[in-house]
Amino acid sequence: MQVLTTQAKSPPVRLIPLTTTEVDGWLATQSAKIQAWAVTSQLTTPGNLMLLADDFGKLTDVVVHLDKDKYQPLSWMAYASVVANLPPGCYQWMNLSAHELSLAALAFGLACYQFTRYKASKKTWPTLCVSESCYQEITPQLQAIYLTRDLINTPTEDLGPQELADVAQTLATETGASYKLWHHSDLQEGFPTIYAVGRASAKPPCLIELNWGDAQHPKLTLIGKGVCFDSGGLDIKPASGMLTMKKDMGGAAHVLGLAKLIMTEGLPVSLQVLIPAVENAISGNAYRPGDVLRSRAGKTIEINNTDAEGRVILADTITYAKERNPDLIVDCATLTGAARVAVGTEFPAVFAQPMRLGFDLMELGEVIQDPLWPLPLYQGYRDLNQSNIADISNSSNGAYAGAITAALFLQSFVGQTQPWIHLDLMAWNLKSKPGKPEGGEAMGLRALFAFIKTWASPQ
Ligand code: BES
Ligand code: ZN
Ligand code: ZN
Repeated sequence: MQVLTTQAKSPPVRLIPLTTTEVDGWLATQSAKIQAWAVTSQLTTPGNLMLLADDFGKLTDVVVHLDKDKYQPLSWMAYASVVANLPPGCYQWMNLSAHELSLAALAFGLACYQFTRYKASKKTWPTLCVSESCYQEITPQLQAIYLTRDLINTPTEDLGPQELADVAQTLATETGASYKLWHHSDLQEGFPTIYAVGRASAKPPCLIELNWGDAQHPKLTLIGKGVCFDSGGLDIKPASGMLTMKKDMGGAAHVLGLAKLIMTEGLPVSLQVLIPAVENAISGNAYRPGDVLRSRAGKTIEINNTDAEGRVILADTITYAKERNPDLIVDCATLTGAARVAVGTEFPAVFAQPMRLGFDLMELGEVIQDPLWPLPLYQGYRDLNQSNIADISNSSNGAYAGAITAALFLQSFVGQTQPWIHLDLMAWNLKSKPGKPEGGEAMGLRALFAFIKTWASPQ
């Protein structure tokens, strides 16, 4: 990975981090010349930098007044905010603990991301020189997040269900995983809900499966919602709601990034990845409001809204996942707008059974600054998913608790005893912030990785 290196060609420029409480003390130890330059550079203002050069005008140090307060609780963003202001060159953070250095390196990588598929980058990015152990820890995380971002950013024309399958196949080849694909002709029988949602598109639906690892290890199944475009179907979305819907395969992008990380790190799990990949399109053979689907589990689903398609394709995928008797199912999905109303756009809502799994995940996310927040699988709302003519309805009758009723719908296929974590996520930055460029984003991916790591080999 280019943004991080363990070997600088020439001595790297030192990045000297100072928190607000440290600035005055540090300045007191400096020469009168540097103190005067610090005044000119307005170093006492949080977020500002001071560049120091040697007698030949060569940059040697950048003194950084980190604005950690501004970015609380994500102080890594303070490190990321520095990157855009650095001249090209190779840098090295000084005086940081191993934990802080990891965050700073991660921030550096996240800040240097660019989506260059359709427009070449004009910027020369700086690089960060890090220790071998830091490089080994952070590089796979950055590669996973870059993959996730790239996939979400790629428009549907270039990333339909088949192209998503091709990406999974490439990943399988790289990691030695086995790869299986159900084409749309195979879906009609075995996966009627995936077929029904995907059949209207000129880009046929498919189900993607990867398997990896030792069958003796704990069985983990990752499921990602792979709606390559969500027009809403016949219950068509307004233009404003449809604009970013190439990102509706964000769940799939997350599980592919996460699976890549799990496999490159060699976690002791028996891993299965399942991605139902469809385009929720409109045509003469589109599934309709009022249709009743008979799912793989035999349970009938009344379609009250064709725009609640994610839970429909996940239903048969979950049923299939359960046929392997997994020890844990984790699904990621850009499932509801309601989850965004509940917790906003910047972190996922998490549902879990048992509930403890969600709290553990949240606590880990807090430590590594990849936040998520639990919502309840409140059983008292199950009646909102009731249908008069089928076993369940795909969209709730009421206007409230839409993220919960969607999760309850999934739970009715997962069952009440299967350990399960469900992330309802945005997968998209509405505007650029340090280390979080506008566009596709991994949310909760690092937290899930940390969780799975301890889950697979508890201390
Ligand atoms: N993909 C959307 C949900 C979504 C929208 C996620 C915006 C993130 C940002 C999903 O398929 C959808 O349209 N859900 C509907 C469900 C409703 C019809 C019951 C929603 O949330 O409005
Ligand atoms: Zn939808
Ligand atoms: Zn959707």
